[in-house]
Amino acid sequence: MTKLHRAYSSGSVDLTTRDSADLAATYDEVSDHQFEHGKQLISDLGILSGERVLDVGMGTGRLAAHVAGIVGPSGHLIGIDPLPLRVEIAKTKSAENFEAGVGRAEDLSAFADASFDVVYLNSVFHWVADKPQALSEIFRVLKGGGRLGLNSQDASRPNESRVFLKDALLEAGVQADYDVVHPSLGVSRTALEALLATAGFVCLAIEARTLVDVFADVDALIAWSSSSSFGNFLIGISTSDRAAIRDELGRKLACKAGPQGIQLQRYLMFATARKPSTS
Ligand SMILES: C[S@@+](CC[C@H](N)C(=O)[O-])C[C@H]1O[C@@H](n2cnc3c(N)ncnc32)[C@H](O)[C@@H]1O
Repeated sequence: MTKLHRAYSSGSVDLTTRDSADLAATYDEVSDHQFEHGKQLISDLGILSGERVLDVGMGTGRLAAHVAGIVGPSGHLIGIDPLPLRVEIAKTKSAENFEAGVGRAEDLSAFADASFDVVYLNSVFHWVADKPQALSEIFRVLKGGGRLGLNSQDASRPNESRVFLKDALLEAGVQADYDVVHPSLGVSRTALEALLATAGFVCLAIEARTLVDVFADVDALIAWSSSSSFGNFLIGISTSDRAAIRDELGRKLACKAGPQGIQLQRYLMFATARKPSTS
């Protein structure tokens, strides 16, 4: 393992420094998959009108705006994200009951103890560097009996897109540490159970789900991967090597092309947990 890879694995590298206005705007346009996965998570949580909800890692705020509609005028939705350019886009969707601001999971000091009914992270947990600290903060800001919902990449079951990209790098003869050029800090189911228990949560369910993402072509997949990883995709790879990887990926993905486009399976663990009422 290279030095850089070790740094990513230990969470000591800040992955939130490479965003751009273009990547943020693209994410807002192409994040339909994420929005649909998010609606599943929100349905699992059974969010009610009048509840006070925190969206951690809200990105450009599409799901947050949807949840603000569910909690209604008597409820409140606060969304935070470490990427200021994405928060700016989220602010354009804000409403009387939806506030957006810069912040990260590991530091929720802007919020009082026991101040939310629900906290959720949609496609965010596999980006959070210090997961114990994040869960401890979420536990603190939840009311007794409050619910946590998250979905995360499963470290033991990489998404199909990751498998294809890994093969494409090899075939294109590009020397790169895969975990650096396509980072993910996903966890296994066992690790997730242990993290939740250590933070004090009662785990309600952890379900592995298979979702299908559809991309018009290889360029749409690359645009998605770059914008959803906020600039960390293929980092440090030269323009000519990127072109070789793109061509190889295109060839490999031919077998996944259907009438609607390239169909790739994504494997996410959906977890719900509760803060004990007596805490
Ligand atoms: C793939 S996007 C998902 C955005 C949004 N939740 C959605 O459903 O579209 C991942 C988001 O996680 C955010 N993120 C990364 N590290 C984070 C952290 N430590 N705390 C909170 N959010 C984080 C990123 O800034 C990014 O906006």
